[in-house]
Amino acid sequence: MRIYDIINKKRYARELSREEIFFAINGFVSGEVADYQMSALAMAICINSMTEREVLDLTDAMLRSGDTINLSRFGHLSVDKHSTGGVGDKTTLIVAPIVASLGAKVAKMSGRGLGHTGGTVDKLEAFCDFKTSLSSEDFLKQVEKIGICVIGQSANLVPADKKLYALRDVSATVESIPLIASSIMSKKLASGSKNIVLDIKVGSGAFMKTESEARALAHAMIKIGKGFGRNVRAIITNMDTPLGKAVGNSLEVWEAIELLKGNITSELYEVCIALSSNMISCAFEIDIEEAKKLCINAVSNGSALKKMKEWIGYQGGDVSLICESERLLQASCKKDFKSQKCGYVSRIDAEKVGIAAMMLGAGRMKKDDIIDTHAGILLNLSIGDRVFEGDTLATLFSSSYDKFSPCEELLLQAFELSDEKPQKQNVIIDTI
Ligand code: URA
Repeated sequence: MRIYDIINKKRYARELSREEIFFAINGFVSGEVADYQMSALAMAICINSMTEREVLDLTDAMLRSGDTINLSRFGHLSVDKHSTGGVGDKTTLIVAPIVASLGAKVAKMSGRGLGHTGGTVDKLEAFCDFKTSLSSEDFLKQVEKIGICVIGQSANLVPADKKLYALRDVSATVESIPLIASSIMSKKLASGSKNIVLDIKVGSGAFMKTESEARALAHAMIKIGKGFGRNVRAIITNMDTPLGKAVGNSLEVWEAIELLKGNITSELYEVCIALSSNMISCAFEIDIEEAKKLCINAVSNGSALKKMKEWIGYQGGDVSLICESERLLQASCKKDFKSQKCGYVSRIDAEKVGIAAMMLGAGRMKKDDIIDTHAGILLNLSIGDRVFEGDTLATLFSSSYDKFSPCEELLLQAFELSDEKPQKQNVIIDTI
């Protein structure tokens, strides 16, 4: 078998055999297939796509490239969630303690942020000394004991994806449904949960720019899950506007705490209740409406907040930040970004807000950049709100005043005002 022939076959849109897919992936991991050959194959897949069978084999080849976690001791109770990435998406911080407080088992590996999208591991580090790396023994022990553990992805979790994703990132081959679906699902399958709930984002701040692409990705991932005996559900949510008011690591942790204290009932709450209800409905095999009532109660009676404290403390984080959450809003430099006109807020472009927050220090332009935990943007208004000249649209947080001016230029483009009050868009587009 020669990699040249495999590339050439996909170039002519022909179906690759399981053996050919394994040959390409194993060769790439071992170094026998060169980066330029793998990028040529990835580009051919982007252009000519893959059949369902090829996507299953690609996922399997990636999954088998590294370690897998065995959660069988938790039976049907193990549950994971994944968001395809967005701006202001702090749902894991909220949803994980909600479902763990109800008895489901959350053994989760999360990623770091890159570009305008954030990552849960960076957010958790806002709880000073929070341990994001644990041995697999300690990881499982914690899940057994308190029902929840969230750590960074271990080095040997799907190494084929790590290598392939790095290549796709620099060769314009990220945006391909077979490649995205197999990349995400290989990591979810390796993490071991029986039940997986996906939050597929669609809009300016997401990978998927249209609803039809988001649906196609959801169906591809559900089929992979089924093929590997997992229970997968997907919700499609709007990411034209940042999710919630906070964008930036410690700011998002603050907002997550406020929600669990019962102080937030906006779109962020809606998405978190939808995700957690689906997770509980899968884990306990109960009706979604019954699951929803349980999740709403877990927030209103304080049990989810109590679980968050237990979780953060168990992983070495500073639990006092949960009681004194205003300490998470303490960047050394702050500035209000004011409106120059009046009208109704008709758009807050998620991608532009995400890039502006990254410019303040909240995100990474390159993989090895160091982030500023306290940097970010706190939006003061939502779509449809009335604005007068001089009103504060957002507050900017950074460690340097020099960073404000380029960020403000971008925010000027991110906020659109209209004369008429715009119609409210639903944040939850569909459940599949
Ligand atoms: N996230 C992933 O993990 N992989 C992709 O291909 C895209 C987003």
